[in-house]
Amino acid sequence: MTADRILAGARREEDVVLETSLRPRRLAEYIGQEKVKDNLRIGIAAAQQRGEPLDHVLLYGPPGLGKTTLANIIAAEMGVSIRTTSGPAIERPGDLAAILTNLQPDDVLFIDEVHRLARAVEEILYPAMEDWALDLVLGKGPGARSMRLALPRFTLIGATTRYAMMSPPLRDRFGAVFRLDFYETGAIAQIVSRSARILEVELDGGGTEEIARRSRGTPRVANRLLRRVRDFAQVMANGAITAPVAQEALARLEIDHLGLDEVDHKVLHTIIEKFNGGPVGLDTIAAAISEEADTIMDVYEPYLLQLGFLHRTPRGRVATRAAYEHLGVPPHHRTPAGQPSLWD
Ligand code: ADE
Repeated sequence: MTADRILAGARREEDVVLETSLRPRRLAEYIGQEKVKDNLRIGIAAAQQRGEPLDHVLLYGPPGLGKTTLANIIAAEMGVSIRTTSGPAIERPGDLAAILTNLQPDDVLFIDEVHRLARAVEEILYPAMEDWALDLVLGKGPGARSMRLALPRFTLIGATTRYAMMSPPLRDRFGAVFRLDFYETGAIAQIVSRSARILEVELDGGGTEEIARRSRGTPRVANRLLRRVRDFAQVMANGAITAPVAQEALARLEIDHLGLDEVDHKVLHTIIEKFNGGPVGLDTIAAAISEEADTIMDVYEPYLLQLGFLHRTPRGRVATRAAYEHLGVPPHHRTPAGQPSLWD
């Protein structure tokens, strides 16, 4: 179900091809995330002046905001190669040892979903990050000896949607930690215009605005909506995307004016109607709508939280007054007496 969702931030097959053509290659082309860019520019310039690799960088935030794009840009700005892998892909310590020993000096190693590294693999990473060293244990039992091998200098870039799930020793070894936030609508509009230029789609200001407003502050979603609206414009209009064309196309995709789709609506309706507005646990919501709890937490909740439609409390999720208003549900479900209320 989730794999088909047009608004999920998670990467899908069609994004891979699309993203390679639309992805900015240099920092100057990258729109938005100004604070992160400023800090990266300084870090990169300083490392280059010293003739050293950049400090290890951790990028975290919801899916689709450009963590992989930034990792590639950092490597390009440093003028080095990038080797890309992911936490779950590195199954054994030996897999990571092989990757590390094959890096060229000053290369970037990018590990996506870094919170999913196995503990034994993480332990190989600690001395590698701190001392560019690989600690090998030869033999077993009382006769075992350890040996330290020198590795090429490298920069580790880790990306995660779950900062809190990373082990503290791993977190602490990153010299720079950047959180990517949802983009402002203006930045998303610039991204949509840029993508339309690259894809040679005719798009006016009204069309741009319609797509940008419903993209949940997420470039990957914006580019996906642009493609869907382009299809609609091509078949149903004369190929040009105007505000009415975009509105019609997005209405057919059941995406509301804030960018919420059927699953977001189900999450909110479930909390409000089945659980009296909450608080209700994440697992209970997930079971009620047949979605994975992790997916709700990583993909849907961040944006609902950002809109102020949802609150996380120690006792579970609570729908706010703004959520009732957005759905047009009259506020007859009041929080039972004695519970903290988000209404007043
Ligand atoms: N495409 C996807 N993300 C982008 C960004 N931040 N800037 C420019 N183009 C993008």
